[in-house]
Amino acid sequence: MTVIDVGPADLADGQIRVVRIAGRPPPRMSVIVTRSGNEWRAYWNVCQHLPIPLDGGLGRLDDGLVCVSHGARYRPEDGLCVEGPCRGAFLESIDVRAREGRLLVELQSG
Ligand code: FES
Repeated sequence: MTVIDVGPADLADGQIRVVRIAGRPPPRMSVIVTRSGNEWRAYWNVCQHLPIPLDGGLGRLDDGLVCVSHGARYRPEDGLCVEGPCRGAFLESIDVRAREGRLLVELQSG
């Protein structure tokens, strides 16, 4: 397991950060970190419709957890797709925790 620092733990409720993870093969090359109430959530940045990034490689998601390709909309608290072509599917979640003002994700090897 690899622990990666994905930035400061200063996200506002509902705010989203997309973080590129160096050295990872596609499709799991970046993660989405967000805050839902008092909980942190992290997901692989891979749409459940097609295995491509939700953000289209832009490095940001300005309209919530919505895939820019075909509009799949995911629920921040659990990654469930609630609208769009992959409705009912879940984003792949990643363990995330805050420590000393930073957010850390725990990635499985490979
Ligand atoms: S690739 Fe995300 S909705 Fe189609």
